[in-house]
Amino acid sequence: MAPSQEGLSHHPKKNTHMASKFNSRSKPSPFLSNGCIFLGGALSTLFIIWGLCSFVIPIPNSDPKIDLVATQLKSLNCTNDATIEAPDMLHDSPERTFYDDPEMAYTMDSPMKNWDEKREEWLLQHPSFLAGAQERVLLVTGSQPSQCHNPIGDHLLLRFFKNKVDYCRLHNYDIFYNNVLIHPKMNIYWAKYPLVRATMMAHPEVEWIWWVDSDAIFTDMEFKLPLNRYKNHNLVVHGWEELIHINRTWTGLNAGVFLIRNCQWSLDFMDVWTSMGPQSPEYDKWGVIQRSTFKDKVIPESDDQTALAYLIAIEKDKWTNKIYLEDNYYFEGYWLDIEKTFNNISKSYNELEREVKGLRRRHAEKVSETYGTMREGYLNNIGQWRRPFITHFTGCQPCNGHHNPNYAAEDCWNGMERALNFADNQVLRKYGFVHNNLMDKAVSPIPFDYPNV
Ligand SMILES: *[C@@H]1O[C@H](CO)[C@@H](O)[C@H](O)[C@H]1NC(C)=O
Ligand SMILES: *[C@@H]1O[C@H](CO)[C@@H](O)[C@H](O)[C@H]1NC(C)=O
Ligand SMILES: *[C@@H]1O[C@H](CO)[C@@H](O)[C@H](O)[C@H]1NC(C)=O
Repeated sequence: MAPSQEGLSHHPKKNTHMASKFNSRSKPSPFLSNGCIFLGGALSTLFIIWGLCSFVIPIPNSDPKIDLVATQLKSLNCTNDATIEAPDMLHDSPERTFYDDPEMAYTMDSPMKNWDEKREEWLLQHPSFLAGAQERVLLVTGSQPSQCHNPIGDHLLLRFFKNKVDYCRLHNYDIFYNNVLIHPKMNIYWAKYPLVRATMMAHPEVEWIWWVDSDAIFTDMEFKLPLNRYKNHNLVVHGWEELIHINRTWTGLNAGVFLIRNCQWSLDFMDVWTSMGPQSPEYDKWGVIQRSTFKDKVIPESDDQTALAYLIAIEKDKWTNKIYLEDNYYFEGYWLDIEKTFNNISKSYNELEREVKGLRRRHAEKVSETYGTMREGYLNNIGQWRRPFITHFTGCQPCNGHHNPNYAAEDCWNGMERALNFADNQVLRKYGFVHNNLMDKAVSPIPFDYPNV
C-alpha cells in the first residue's frame, strides 16, 4: 500500500486547508447534526413494537396452569406479521447500496465521502435495523496475529476476551475480535484505526464503535455507557482537559479505550490522526514534534495517544467540540489505583444487598439490566466503593510479557487474576456460583438469598 494520506496530510501549516475541508459540507441533510449523523428524531418516528409474539408454544399439556399460559399466548394472535421487528438477517435490499460501488474500499487510503448519507440510505433500505439504531454499539477488540511470547499470555487473552463477551451478552451488544494486521505498516497501537475504519463500513447498522484494548477488562458488569451524555460528540476518551492543555502530559488521556461514532467526521478525523502513523512519510517528523510538545512522552516514535493529545491541545478549535474527555467515571482506569480496592468494593456491595432484598433476588441473566438500574438508585450511598467500570492493565503487556519495569511481574499477574475473578463473580452469580477468594480459581455454589446468610 502506498504511503497514502497525502491529500489529508496533517501539518500545522495546512490548517486552513483542513478547516475549509470540514466547513464545506455541501448537502446538509436533516440527519446531520453539526456535521455528523445522529439518528435522532426522524428515525425514531418509526416506532417499532418489539415482539411479544416471537414464539408460539403448542403445548399439549394437562397442567391447567400451563394450558392457561398457552391460551393467553394464543389470544395475542401471534402470526408472522409485521408486529415483530427484530433485525431481519435474512433480507438484503435488492436496491443498489454503497457496497455495490466499485470505488468503495475498506482501506484507510481510499477516501470515503458522504458516509453519513450512505449509512442513512442503507438503514432506510434495511428498516428492520432502524429500531434502536441510534444506541447500537459494536465492541471491537483484538490481538496480534501470532501466539504470545509470555507462556500464560494466550490464556490471559482468552480470559480478557471472555470478560468482554460476558459484558456484551449482558447488554446485547455485538462484538468483533480481530487478530489480523489489516495494514502491514500500521502495527502496534496504530493497528486499530484501519480496523475501526473497516468495521464502520461493515456495520452501517451501528452508531458507535467501541474500541477496547485486549488488556482492559470490565469490572462493573452492570454499568452502561451514558450514551445520552455523548449525543453531541463523536469521539469519547478517558481524559482530563487540564492535563492536556496545561500540564501537557501525554498521559492526559488514554487511547486504549474509545467510543467513536460511525460517521463522516470520524473517518475524516481518523485520517488526520493516523497521518502521524508509521505508514506516513511524516512519521519521524511527528515523533519529534510530539516529544517537544509533550515532554514526558516515553515512546520515542509517534504514537496514537500522543497524536490525539496533540490534536486536542494544538488544534483544539478544529476538533475538540466533538471530542468528549470523560473524567466522571472509570471509562477506563489504571489498574494499580483500582486493584487494591476490590475487597472493600465487594464488601460494600454485599452490605447493600443485605439491606435491599430486591437486589439479591435471583433472576435470569437476560433481565440483569433491570437489577443494574435498580442498584443505580442506591450507589450514591456507597461513595468511593463503587465498582470501577473498566480496569486497564496499562504497562503489564500480558501477551509479550514485557511489562513496565516499574512494576513487579507478580503484581501484574495477580492484579489480572483478581480483576478477572472480581468481574467473573458478577457473571457467575447468575449461574449460582462465586469465587470466595479473588485469587482462587475454584468456585462454590451460592446459597439461596445470598449474601444475606
Ligand atoms: C384475536 O383474534 C380473535 C379472532 O380473530 C379476536 O376475536 C380477538 O379479539 C383477537 N385478540 C386480540 C388480542 O387481538
Ligand atoms: C498540573 O499542573 C498544575 C499547575 O501547574 C499542578 O498544580 C499539578 O500538580 C499538575 N498535575 C500533574 C498531574 O502533573
Ligand atoms: C478498606 O476499608 C478499610 C475499612 O474502612 C480501610 O481501613 C482500608 O484502608 C480500605 N482499603 C483500601 C485499599 O482503601
